Amino acid sequence: MNKRRNAMIFGLDIDTEASCPKGSSPEQARDPPTAKESNDIKRSNYNALGRELFHDNPSDAPTYVPQSYFRNDTSSTSKFKHIGRGTCGVVFAQRGSAFVWKQALPGYENALGWEQAVQWRTYHVFEHVRAQLATTEDHGVNNEYIRSLTIPLIPATSTFVLPKHSKSPEKSKTIPRLTWNTAAWWQSHGRLFTSEYQDPVPTRCSQRIFPVSSAARKALVDAFCPGDATRRASAKAHPANSDCIIRIYLGRNKGSQRANSNFRGFSLRNFPLFLDRARKFAREIQLQDLAAQMGRALAICHWALQNDANDVEFVLGCVKPGEVPRLWMFDFDKVRGIEWSEGGMVQAVESVVRNDSYFPRAPPELGE
Ligand SMILES: Nc1ncnc2c1ncn2[C@@H]1O[C@H](COP(=O)(O)OP(=O)(O)O)[C@@H](O)[C@H]1O
Ligand SMILES: [Mg+2]
Repeated sequence: MNKRRNAMIFGLDIDTEASCPKGSSPEQARDPPTAKESNDIKRSNYNALGRELFHDNPSDAPTYVPQSYFRNDTSSTSKFKHIGRGTCGVVFAQRGSAFVWKQALPGYENALGWEQAVQWRTYHVFEHVRAQLATTEDHGVNNEYIRSLTIPLIPATSTFVLPKHSKSPEKSKTIPRLTWNTAAWWQSHGRLFTSEYQDPVPTRCSQRIFPVSSAARKALVDAFCPGDATRRASAKAHPANSDCIIRIYLGRNKGSQRANSNFRGFSLRNFPLFLDRARKFAREIQLQDLAAQMGRALAICHWALQNDANDVEFVLGCVKPGEVPRLWMFDFDKVRGIEWSEGGMVQAVESVVRNDSYFPRAPPELGE
């Protein structure tokens, strides 16, 4: 699994020379900063990250459901932009639209249908819990406290488009009701995908997790991109880096580990924010809030949805461009049901332990 993740995080082959020819960077012309100046620059980048990525008070984060904003705008004719890729699908976004379209990669057609069903259910259960938490009263406990509890957002699901040769959607057991089976959709929309993705394949539409602000992206590069000013300017200018959502790795430190030797670019797509780096600009209470949200999300998956939350991802991203980022949970194709049995509990625990390093780990001195 680690191998796949590395490829996703670091595999983006950014041609730094092409996107920013040597000598073209305004930063390069300046004298190198003194040690004090470097420290000031570092501090100001960390301040910017703290401001752009976190609420001052985590419980003030808005808890509304963005339904009114979320309309099915399938009439747009602007081109799809490739914004992500995993093992199961390739993801596209459309300018001015709050949606993403995920096309199944060969062999993963059923996985995509399954994901649609799991995400649809997960979204509705999470919104129900969110509403219950926000309005709770008279339980003889601290209602204020319960109303302040936040849980991650789940991207709402919309249409599932089948290729024209598929069986009628009514016969499908795994795909929920919002299913289209039209050649017409592919005729009007197929040409909007990049050339190698215009053939009809199962494709699902869901709410877009918008990138963090450009100020945050710039500060991430300035704070963490290795190399010189040319490399940083190039990383900031690269179009792929405008699609920046941030993976929250509370279970791992970056430490001194280096990227693999094929690594040429600095990718902000699925930027891995390790605990030691997050601590440079986030307050402990803000990190604890993220950890608590992950814990509540797992509790809802295990006990309300009765599934193992296997291989889900947790990222910071925005509901609308320009807003303070929120924590999201997504990527449900490997989620499976669990039994109320010892076997089911083992499955749930293993799924948590095997996942990427999102969840905090006990300090080493406490042992396994
Ligand atoms: N709703 C979304 N909003 C924004 N980006 C997304 C969304 N869904 C997926 N992506 C991007 O596309 C990548 C691949 O999507 P993912 O669902 O993880 O595919 P896979 O199931 O193949 O791993 C993600 O890691 C993320 O960067
Ligand atoms: Mg994924």
